[in-house]
Amino acid sequence: MFRSLAEVEGWMTRAQAGRLWDRASELRAGDRIVEIGSFRGRSAIVLASAAPEEVEIVTIDPHGGNDRGPQEIEGFEAEAQEDHEVFLANLERAGVRERIRHLRRYSTEALGDVDGDVELLYIDGAHRLGPALSDIRRWGDRVAPGGTLLIHDAFSSIGVTGALVASLFFGRQFHYVGRSGSLAEYRRRPVRGPRRLANAARQAAQLPWFAKNVVLKVLITLKLRPVYRLLGSDGTWPY
Ligand SMILES: C[S@@+](CC[C@H](N)C(=O)[O-])C[C@H]1O[C@@H](n2cnc3c(N)ncnc32)[C@H](O)[C@@H]1O
Repeated sequence: MFRSLAEVEGWMTRAQAGRLWDRASELRAGDRIVEIGSFRGRSAIVLASAAPEEVEIVTIDPHGGNDRGPQEIEGFEAEAQEDHEVFLANLERAGVRERIRHLRRYSTEALGDVDGDVELLYIDGAHRLGPALSDIRRWGDRVAPGGTLLIHDAFSSIGVTGALVASLFFGRQFHYVGRSGSLAEYRRRPVRGPRRLANAARQAAQLPWFAKNVVLKVLITLKLRPVYRLLGSDGTWPY
């Protein structure tokens, strides 16, 4: 399965796919997965392949041509319909088309389309501060006690990281578990008293890595190859 993912365009490392797989495979019949931001299906295929039967899988992506990926914020309307068609074809080829209920909508519009708690929420939609914060707050509220929240581009994108600082660093609901590259994992459980400070400190400890990613992105954008190579990058966009 992991090898066949290489044919699906997207931004997700092998380690990140492994973390998604592990969390999805631990779910039980009757549980629900919601993915925000599917693009061409890479993460959706992992989640649907790993989840036990009778776990409901809902994916949400307007395939609208904006907030499409790194440096692709606006103006990709021409690619939007193709993204949607390729997404469906990729699911079909991976044998998971029937497992997934896809909502071709913006995440804020889809809140009413999903009933009940969410045991695994994966957020990888719009990466700007406002929408990222809204996804974490509004969809995060739907995560069941003990459930998992996974966020891509954490400590890598400025918008997503700002949203983490504003919502989860000192929040009382989500315990920071760790990360695979920019894929951060949180567990929903009360965070109180001194644990709140420890939770914030463990997230703040990721900020030097975030700062390095921001510097690398600037250097890669400016095509300053010798400089980013000095920092150990081969020019691949960090995520
Ligand atoms: C970085 S890509 C997702 C990558 C995908 N998870 C993968 O594994 O390849 C971001 C996606 O979010 C979608 N998106 C943008 N704004 C959104 C929103 N408000 N709600 C849901 N999806 C959104 C875009 O259409 C795009 O396909």
